[in-house]
Parts: sequence; C-alpha cells; structure tokens
Amino acid sequence: MKLVACIVLAASLVAAGQNKPVAAVATPQVITVRADRPGAAIAPTMFGLFFEDINFGADGGLYPERLKNRSFEFPDPLMGWKAMPGERIRGELQVMDRGEAEKSPNRHYLRLKAATTGYGVWNEGFRGIGLEKGAAYQFSFRARQIGADRARGRVVLLDVSGGVLAAAELPELTDRWKLYNLTLKPAATEARARFVLLLDGPGIIELDELSLFPQETWKGRKNGLRPDLVQLLADLKPGFLRFPGGCIVEGRHLETRYRWKQTVGEPAGRRLIVNRWNTEFRHRPTPDYYQSFGLGFYEYFQLSEDLGAEPLPILNCGMACQFNSAELVPLDALDPYVQDALDLIGFANGATNTRWGRLRASMGHPKPFNLKMIGIGNEQWGEQYIERYEVFARELSRRHPEVKLVSGVGPFQSGREFDYLWRRLRELKSDIVDEHYYLSPKWFRDNAGRYDNYPRSGPKVFAGEYAAQSVAIASPENRNNWECALSEAAFITGLERNAEVVTMSSYAPLLAHVDAWQWTPNLIWFDNLRAFGTPNYYVQKLFSTNRGDRVLPVLSEGEPLRGRNGIYASASRIDDSGEIILKLVNTADEPREAEIRLSGGAEPAGTARRSLLSDPDPAALNSLEEPRRIAPASDVIEATGRNFRYSLPARSFTVLRIPVRG
Ligand code: AHR
Repeated sequence: MKLVACIVLAASLVAAGQNKPVAAVATPQVITVRADRPGAAIAPTMFGLFFEDINFGADGGLYPERLKNRSFEFPDPLMGWKAMPGERIRGELQVMDRGEAEKSPNRHYLRLKAATTGYGVWNEGFRGIGLEKGAAYQFSFRARQIGADRARGRVVLLDVSGGVLAAAELPELTDRWKLYNLTLKPAATEARARFVLLLDGPGIIELDELSLFPQETWKGRKNGLRPDLVQLLADLKPGFLRFPGGCIVEGRHLETRYRWKQTVGEPAGRRLIVNRWNTEFRHRPTPDYYQSFGLGFYEYFQLSEDLGAEPLPILNCGMACQFNSAELVPLDALDPYVQDALDLIGFANGATNTRWGRLRASMGHPKPFNLKMIGIGNEQWGEQYIERYEVFARELSRRHPEVKLVSGVGPFQSGREFDYLWRRLRELKSDIVDEHYYLSPKWFRDNAGRYDNYPRSGPKVFAGEYAAQSVAIASPENRNNWECALSEAAFITGLERNAEVVTMSSYAPLLAHVDAWQWTPNLIWFDNLRAFGTPNYYVQKLFSTNRGDRVLPVLSEGEPLRGRNGIYASASRIDDSGEIILKLVNTADEPREAEIRLSGGAEPAGTARRSLLSDPDPAALNSLEEPRRIAPASDVIEATGRNFRYSLPARSFTVLRIPVRG
C-alpha cells in the first residue's frame, strides 16, 4: 500500500462563529506495529544502573554518615575538622598515631587538650551536615579520659548562623577506650549544619571513630543507606546494579585501585583510600574526596537484592587507568587479581562453611547473593587488555562456568581500538561486551539504528555507560537538559528494538552532589537533604518500568521507525496478557500526527494508558527547586479499532500501554 508522508497543512482555519484559529490539519504518518511478529525476548537486565563513587555518590551521598574523616585517617588527619577556640578559650588538638607496626586501617586518633572551658573541635560534614527537624541521629564515638581531671563536655549541632539545633552531655569517660552512643534530635531542619564537640572545663580526652548517622535509613538498617536516594533507584525497577564503577575500579595507580576485600567486614576496619576523582579535574578540585568504604561490596550486593537487580561487580584486571598512569601488572603476576575474582564468587555465592561464605554470613546474609556476572576491567584497551582478559577468562570459565564475564571495548564508541577489541573478544567468545559512549545529543539521534546490523550471534552487547553531552565530554558546562534526554529516548528505542543483541544498558554516572560534583551530566542530583531525577532519569524510568517481554517490529513505510520526520519508535508485548507497549519519541519541534495500525488481528480494548514526557523547550531542566518540571504525566486515551489516531506532541516521549482483545 502506498503510504503518504506526513504533510502539515499550514492552514489557519477560522472556526465558524468563533474568531480563533483551529489546529493545523496534517496527514498522519502511518505507524504499523506488527503484533503478529513477536521477536526476541527482552532480557530482564535490559535496563539497569551504573553506580560509581564519583560526585560524592557514596560518602556524602548514598552512604549517609554525616561526619567527614570520622576516624582521622585522611592523609591530612584533621581535614574536615577544626579547633573551636575563641576569646580566652585555649587548648590544643593533637593527632596521635598508633604506629605503622600495627598495620591498622585505623592508625590515628585525636587528643583534645582543653586548657579552658569551651575548647573543642567541629566537623564540617560533606559541604555541611543535613539534618531534619525531629529526626533521630545516632552519635557514636570511642573515647577515653587522660589524666586525673575528669572532663565534662557536650556535643552540639549548630545551624549556619550558630544557633543550637540539638545538644547532649558527653557521658562520663574512663581511662579505657570505650564505645559510647547518644541520640540527637534537631529542633529545626538545616542542610548545612555543623557538628561540635567541646569540653566544659580544662581536661584531656582522646577520641576516635566518631559517627553521626541518621536513624532513618533504607529499610531501617544499621550502617544503612540514604532512603530518598535508594527510593529513586528502586522506582526505576532496575534489572541490574553495576558497581563500583567506572574508572574507580582502575585507580589512577594500581596502588589506589578498588580492592573489594578491603571494603567488607566491620566498617571501622575498612581501610580508607583516596578517591580517584579527588584530583582528576582541575575545573572541579575536591581535595577532601576519600573512600571510607562504609558502602562496600556487602552493601552493594544487599542493595542489588533490595532493588531486585542482578549484581554486576566490575573488577580490576591488572591495569591502572590508561588515561592516567596506565600501570600494568605483569602477566605472570596476575594471580592475586584472578584470586580476587574467585574469592568474590565465594563471598557472593559460597556455602557458609567456606572462608568467604562465612564472612558473608557473619555480616548478616547466610543466603547466597546469587552472583551471575562479573566484569573484567572497566574501560581498558589494547593488546595488554586482551592478554589479561584471557588469563581471567581461562581460570574463571574453568572454575565457574556458571558466571558470565563482561569484557570491555575501551572508552570510545568506534575506531581502530574498538574494532580490534570487538574482533578479539568475538574470537575469545566473550559473553557480554561493554560499550561506552558519551557523545552529543545529535549522535544519539543519528545512532538509533546502531545495533540494527550487529551480528545476531556471538557476544551480547552491554551499553554500559552512556549519556548525551550537551557541550562535550567532561565539560563542566554539560547540562541534563531535555534535548539530551529526548535524544537518549530516541536512541534507546534502538536498544529495545535490538534486544536480540543488546541485553543490558545503563546511563552514567548515576549520582551527583550539587555542591561536590566533578562530572556532569548525571542521572540524579542531590544536596544534603533533597534529591531529584533529571529528565534523563524519567526517560530511563519510562523504559525500565514499561519493558515488555518480547520485541514487536514497528514500521513506517516498510522500515523500522528510527528518525523519519523526527519520530523514533519501539514496541514490545507482555506475553501473558498480549498487552502492547508502544514507545514513540517525537524529536521535532512541532506535533506529529500518526495513525497507529496494529497488524495481525490485535485490536485495542478501547483505551490505552499513556505516560507522556514533553517540554517545548529543549534547554529545560529539572532542579532542586523544580524537581518535576519534566516528569511523566499519566492519563488514558481512546484507542478503538485496529487503526487509531495519535498526535505526538512536539518534543515528546510517549509510552502507550494498549490492552488488546483477542
Ligand atoms: O562515568 C564517568 C566515567 O566515564 C567512568 O568512570 C568511566 O568509566 C568513563 O570514562
């Protein structure tokens, strides 16, 4: 049948009797959903999460400890802490060192010597301390008294102007180290509070492992996560959680690579290291960025389980970041790295009578975490990656054939390295290949057909890190604007259409503190109390919560709909009910009229549920003040007969859930 292209009749008709223009009449573009041609199954892992401790995503973010440098283990042991002297208030802070011989991750502690009343120390938190009125905060600390003078003291939470929000007396200390707990309830909400500990007379005390932790955490867990941020993640119903990165896996040097074994066990025993984003960007220096690992591998597995997401840990493969030092572990010295991978499988899945399974059980999770995938390296390239990947693959597939391996093809979306790595990984029969692209919104629109011609056999694709960059990769001017989000939506229709090849995808990075970020754009932004999803977040949400079981072809003029007249589309079917889920992206700056045809005998039951994201302004943003400027609106539209009309608003992303008869 000859189909007529969409023509807007720019007629400004005047309605009879009313002196106002009637909307322009357009010939609808025919969009055919082949309900009779269900294709590939869409993997439950199709839409997931990429988490990295960047932008204060862990400490200062998901991990809600309020005190920075709580054990004085930063290389500058007093970073984040300051003395509270004043007129006629005197004293001294001394950093005490237990000594290297002990090899303790907790070498330092603080000696507070007050010569007068009122001397103390304050902590600035993570760009301030977020406190909610009436909420309970547990202040815990280890301390002892030095000398005969018994020191009395107080902890106080102050607002930005020095007003007292909460205060409590310090308990009586003894000359032995002991753990103490106090509860503080602020009288008002404050996003940038300060924590103060001071003595009410001359005396000497020693302090270590101070912690101010909200009682309200995700699922009420001790050492638990920030609930509003986890809720935003849970609302995405992610199919997997990739952790802990990203480049953080690699480290600028091997010395500062991510080592999962140092992130499990008692939080106080986890050895702090510098965060690789501390020094990465001159435009956003964050000298106070360290990893306390309060959020470590156990917590990542637990979070994956809570979210109903498959855990996907990424491990260092014996290579430091190739944009930085590019240090390599010699091939004959890789054993400890491979052993880390084997032990991680033991930690996640091993029986409780094994070394690592026992540790997992002792941390509170006797049942296995059911780990099914591991990533070998992050964004590596060159022969040196392939050689190392081969060592891991040989050993892991021999010992754990049940665990799939994710390999990478470097940081770029195409090019000589990319082609070389794909060729070699195909030869090596890698299970899943992780591609990254941080490119312009136009690239995303132009590449909605990227996977249409990828080979259908061989490794599956994991679109592991992607985000449209409004200016350029790593530019501090990048914004999470609507044009970027809409272009990603156009691109994602191509991921869904190619579910036969693409089995996983994730936007990156995930989280950013508005006052402490290094990288932009990001999916979710937050301050010390509030958080909001970007337009990109809502695009992800509409895809992940409307996944469907099986791909249905969507055609216009006999071709997959990937940009004709600015329209992109994908469709899927729910197997049990036959319900059709149609996603329509209109990138044009004007509405598009469409006639939706359901072929193969499927007939809409009469109405369809619609979720709509739209904004006429491509530069539009969400913000802490206007968190839902661009957020899905839901309603019900009429959808009767096998052909029905739908008008795609300008610059919009529509999801139609169409129940069908028969
Ligand atoms: O997402 C930010 C960074 O971009 C990741 O750490 C890295 O893998 C990529 O280069």
